[in-house]
Amino acid sequence: MLPASRMRRGTDIEHAASVLRAGGLVAFPTETVYGLGGDASSADAARKIFAAKGRPADHPLIVHLRHAPDELDRWAADVPASARVLADRFWPGPLTLIVRRGARIAPEVTGGGDTVGLRTPAHPMAQALLAAFGGAVAAPSANRYGHVSPTTADHVVDDLGGDVDYVLDGGACEVGVESTIVDLTGDVAVLRRPGGVTREQVEDALGAPLGEPEAPRYSGSTPSHYAPSARVVAVPAAQLADTVRAQRGNVGVLAPASVLAAAGLPPSVRVVALPDELDAAARRLYAALRELDATGVDVIVAVLPPEAGVGAAIADRLRRAAGPRGPHE
Ligand code: TXA
Ligand code: MG
Repeated sequence: MLPASRMRRGTDIEHAASVLRAGGLVAFPTETVYGLGGDASSADAARKIFAAKGRPADHPLIVHLRHAPDELDRWAADVPASARVLADRFWPGPLTLIVRRGARIAPEVTGGGDTVGLRTPAHPMAQALLAAFGGAVAAPSANRYGHVSPTTADHVVDDLGGDVDYVLDGGACEVGVESTIVDLTGDVAVLRRPGGVTREQVEDALGAPLGEPEAPRYSGSTPSHYAPSARVVAVPAAQLADTVRAQRGNVGVLAPASVLAAAGLPPSVRVVALPDELDAAARRLYAALRELDATGVDVIVAVLPPEAGVGAAIADRLRRAAGPRGPHE
């Protein structure tokens, strides 16, 4: 493996496609976060992705498709009408649809399961890569398992170092949080992860309310995910000052600019402001968490945004970052 300093990085789409064809791994930008991509038809490529991320092999990967009319039928089996409606409305874009896995996708990609998460990313560089490669690309977020997702090529290099054959550098991601995941394999469509496409938009397209997953999304047993090294405490704005006072050690605060201005925090607290506007806050979220973490604080107190629109995705990620830490950390 190449050391991080010699890892190849650039904007060469043809080279990136040739790496995928040879069974290698390419990190690439999407509009949500950077993905760690491999050939979705190759069991070997899937194994490499799990190894590079340090992710358990039974956690299914999302498969990325070209923006072309027949792609859904090419990679899924028994496509339901609801999937066509949502793909027509939101692809290319930050929406993943869970459907039956088509035969062209290696079972290793889905952890052996017969369902698969499919999405058509909107980022032009991701689309150029998919077009040059010709197949589908399995790609989880390009971070170590459980860590904060990368929204720049630098984040990918910091996290995965030499475990990637090539990093396509497309600048900072536009949405900044992972795609919305809607499961269409049951009787009722279920929201599995809030993201860049809002619940309201999906319900409007389907003409029906989305169901909730059977397991509570924020159960105490949910292992921490999307997490920096510092401990994270997620609180509503009204509890910020009291929560900061109750912490021991070096404290960092991540909060909307207007909340910080009103909070009157002691000068010893490291603060990173997020924009008040929610789309801009989502775009900045992961880079801000990384910046605060890099200051070496022991605890990050993060203020939960209003849960309208993409605020639901931001709140979801902050709660998960604050979840109990698993053995992988
Ligand atoms: O925005 C995104 O979705 C990014 C970019 C790279 O596309 N990808 C991403 O992938 O976030 P990843 O692997 O970090 O997260 C995938 C999530 C996991 O929580 C996984 O459990 C769920 O999607 N998932 C994938 N396939 C699934 C399936 N067949 N059934 C249930 N959940 C699935
Ligand atoms: Mg991830």
